[in-house]
Amino acid sequence: MDPKTFEEIRKFIYDKSGIFFEKNKEYLLTNRLRKRIEALKLSSFEEYLRYIKSVSGSKELPNLFDAITINETYFFRHINQINAFVDAMVPEMLKRKRAINIWSAACSSGEEPYTIVIALMEKYGSNIPARILASDISNEILEKAKEGIYGEYSLKELSFEMKKKYFDNIAPGKYKIKDAIKRKCVFKNINLTDDRQLRTVGRMDTIFCRNVLIYFDNVSRQKVVDKFYNDILNPGGYLVLGATESISRLKTNFKLCHFKMAIAYQKPL
Ligand SMILES: C[S@@+](CC[C@H](N)C(=O)[O-])C[C@H]1O[C@@H](n2cnc3c(N)ncnc32)[C@H](O)[C@@H]1O
Repeated sequence: MDPKTFEEIRKFIYDKSGIFFEKNKEYLLTNRLRKRIEALKLSSFEEYLRYIKSVSGSKELPNLFDAITINETYFFRHINQINAFVDAMVPEMLKRKRAINIWSAACSSGEEPYTIVIALMEKYGSNIPARILASDISNEILEKAKEGIYGEYSLKELSFEMKKKYFDNIAPGKYKIKDAIKRKCVFKNINLTDDRQLRTVGRMDTIFCRNVLIYFDNVSRQKVVDKFYNDILNPGGYLVLGATESISRLKTNFKLCHFKMAIAYQKPL
């Protein structure tokens, strides 16, 4: 890809999704877009750029999102955060209300929202005091989430007993999440940088936004975090980022809260 085309494609992606490809990630972008160029029977990156910018190219946008997103995830990722959520944040919020709204805002193939359900079921039984919205920008990955079939990698943190309790072993190395867990989650396509879509989210008590803002730059991170704070989180609600992430470089009124081996950001009451 020539430097000018790379610049233009990366700006287009950034404007549409907040995802910013650093120069050293050009190879990644090139490889991923090559597949789309082949699928569309186009002949160059320049042609692809013209196509996605054209009116008829707008239907390519979901495919572009499917192609460029990194969907790495697994059950009980950053377990200390999950423990802090279930053992400290949830009981505190339940002192103020009978049920809480939780949003897994970049849910990938569903491991994160299903982990939240499982962790809550372990504490509260099948009638969990929570509703879970799970969303992602990629339709392809959301289909996987709704299907709920996983391989060994996704379940690597789970004991044999937990696998047995919450999954059906449908083939060697293949596990299907039980319907009782699936039913607790509503899946939607929501782009974190699309204000119109964000307005459909409603009010939330906790937002899990883990390992997605790492792909954004500070400008788009700030916009998303401001939206969470101003329009979505209830007072006293929490924002949980990935274990290695922080919003310390952003300007916010969130209060940093320390838990056992985990942190979260709380909107003051
Ligand atoms: C690395 S995964 C993280 C999954 C999960 N939250 C976790 O921590 O295990 C990042 C996810 O963010 C999604 N994503 C990227 N940009 C997004 C955007 N603008 N809006 C919503 N989701 C986005 C990707 O499709 C991908 O599934």
